[in-house]
Amino acid sequence: MIYLDNAATSNQKPYSVKKAVWNALSHPVNVGRNSGRESFLYAEKILGVRESIAQLLHIEYSENIVFTSNASHGLNLAIKGFLKPNDHVILTLYEHNSVLRQLYQKEKNPICFLPCYPDHRVNFEQMEQLILPNTALLVVNAASNVTGATVDYKKIYQKANQLGLTVLFDFSQAIGNIDIDLSECKRCMAVFSGHKSLLGPQGTGVLYVSPDIALSPVLEGGTGSLSNELFQPDFLPDQLEIGTLNVPGILGLGKGVEFVKANKPEALLHHKLELIQYTYDALQNMKHIKVYHNGDFQNSVGILSFNVSNAHSELIARILSEKYHISTRGGYHCAPFAHRELGTENQGAVRVSPGYKTTKKEMTKLLDAIYKIQKNSEY
Ligand SMILES: Cc1ncc(COP(=O)(O)O)c(C=O)c1O
Repeated sequence: MIYLDNAATSNQKPYSVKKAVWNALSHPVNVGRNSGRESFLYAEKILGVRESIAQLLHIEYSENIVFTSNASHGLNLAIKGFLKPNDHVILTLYEHNSVLRQLYQKEKNPICFLPCYPDHRVNFEQMEQLILPNTALLVVNAASNVTGATVDYKKIYQKANQLGLTVLFDFSQAIGNIDIDLSECKRCMAVFSGHKSLLGPQGTGVLYVSPDIALSPVLEGGTGSLSNELFQPDFLPDQLEIGTLNVPGILGLGKGVEFVKANKPEALLHHKLELIQYTYDALQNMKHIKVYHNGDFQNSVGILSFNVSNAHSELIARILSEKYHISTRGGYHCAPFAHRELGTENQGAVRVSPGYKTTKKEMTKLLDAIYKIQKNSEY
């Protein structure tokens, strides 16, 4: 099987990640709920991962790094914990359902979307015009999980800070590919998965809350701290990290982060983008293929979506898997508005996302398969 769905979860985890998970499972102890020496050793290791992630984001306070079970969990802690009834939210059409579904259920919160330019890039110039007296939050997906297009997150937070807006970034597809520097970002929250380009295990994610923001806890429970009190601690990370921590996952994630730092996100992305550009160029020459990429590889992560004529993307993805043993992702990628913006609301798209170890030979096999599918009308 050629695996080309690293945007969903990366499947080429470094050996150090697997070893850390194995070690944590071989000597399991609870952290913060056990008085033995091993528990303290593990607590120190977890603190090390927190500090390493703070360093990755260029932020000062590691206690503001909250471990979550995925990006969706972090987005729920951030949005539900931040918004008050009637707070207005500005967001982009490229948000994931882990943002959209919360806001569509919270009818008390009015929302509006930033428009897009004709080439489907988000028009952040319009931000100021959309601000209402009750606007409280701007939500921005920094790299689309459908088109791979990235946004200039620094420029956005500088502008949001000037306008007095709090900003929530979804860095799920950006982290591990581009350098994320939040050192200057005020009134800022950032969420990402640990299991995509950070190469950590599934079941890991992170929420960063800048020190000038106080979230209300969405979930309450044991934290291993202030155990004789009936109220949820009001300090981070304990306030938002309830119950037994995913120690194997967090320690595995720590090794993924170390791997990414040692190999440099830009270099890891460069390899993936070379493969994407090669695929993009070849697909341009195939008659029945439509590619959803604006060709701006400087501002992209390693994702390419396409369709074959009017065939449903799920069907093409199934043929790629069953006949050619190539694993991609068809459908709507939990991003219904992105697909409406691209005009693919009835077809979805086949998404291809190579990993840091994917080879050009594997992409050539993909291209051969697509060529045969579109030429022989196998759909
Ligand atoms: C942009 C974006 N946000 C959020 C998510 C949700 O991530 P998770 O599965 O870690 O909750 C994804 C997953 O594909 C994503 O691509």
